[in-house]
Amino acid sequence: MTMLDAHDSVRALDWRGDCLMLLDQRGLPAREEWIECRDAGAVAEAIRALVVRGAPAIGVAAAYGLVLAARALATLGRAIDGDALAPARAVLAASRPTAVNLFNALARMDAALARQASAADPDAVTDALEAEARAIDAEDLAANRRMGELGAALVEPGSGVLTHCNTGSLATAGFGTALGVIRAGYASGRVCEVYACETRPWLQGARLTMWELLRDGIPARLIADSAGAHLMACGRVRWLIVGADRICANGDTANKIGTRQLAIAARYHGVRVMVVAPTSTLDFGTVTGDAIEIELRDGRELTELSSVSTAAPGSEAWNPVFDVTPAALIDAIVTERGVVEHPTAEALRAAFG
Ligand code: MRU
Repeated sequence: MTMLDAHDSVRALDWRGDCLMLLDQRGLPAREEWIECRDAGAVAEAIRALVVRGAPAIGVAAAYGLVLAARALATLGRAIDGDALAPARAVLAASRPTAVNLFNALARMDAALARQASAADPDAVTDALEAEARAIDAEDLAANRRMGELGAALVEPGSGVLTHCNTGSLATAGFGTALGVIRAGYASGRVCEVYACETRPWLQGARLTMWELLRDGIPARLIADSAGAHLMACGRVRWLIVGADRICANGDTANKIGTRQLAIAARYHGVRVMVVAPTSTLDFGTVTGDAIEIELRDGRELTELSSVSTAAPGSEAWNPVFDVTPAALIDAIVTERGVVEHPTAEALRAAFG
């Protein structure tokens, strides 16, 4: 067991061949319960309801969802082609709009299907789709390990860092993106202390990131979302390290709501901003961040906590759950294929084609 394995003990997804088991992140950390998904509709509903969340994890779950749809067709002896899979694909694609990993994973599954002969045996087609989903899963874990090394190398030894939302094993196939850099940075002595924003309204930071960090024995403190600028003014952090749900051709980056205001505060205070995301989060088809669809969720996520009202009765809420950080505020984008400092359209195209 390597030092890094010791800092990676949680999994969000467990593919069993005939079903996808998902650790229900709505109940964490109070309840560690698993949900069994036996068809694509159940996987789509789990993504929509945030049973599974985090851009890479959503992509992996959707790929397995399509395998379940193929398996159902094979059981009925029906041919598996794009038309037969279209309803399942559509329901998965409609589950959440912002994280491009979902759409990139479905596109990979389409390509895997297209490589099969049209008259191929349904079981063989299903096996090919399962192999592709497993590859998406395994590649994400490997990418996270690599990004951990690359991102940690940018951090000066003994640094405090700030992170937002949950980008750990729970949000990926394992290890994490931004949290992977923090894990690797802690293991190598570069990160000495972590601050985690609570991440209202769903509390990914307070519930999930703190849980992962505490399990790993990494020194971490929770802050209110509104404490980020003050933390920076106090000189406690050198880097803001976050994940991404979609990185556009020019480097504009969609991530959890609140990332943009943290990046603005970071620039003012001389704190550097690192975005850590696998290449499955790149969207070169979207030119700038203005074109990204920002998911709006139910206002009750803001006005209620565990079904108990926390706002004045009758309060209406506006609940966008992502925002876009302009590329100009990002010091480094870390992917498994390398680091792009001061990202621009030209620099990203040169790095990734
Ligand atoms: O709404 P969520 O919890 O799915 O949002 C997650 C984030 O914004 C993460 O920062 C992002 O997906 C990167 S996860 C490795």
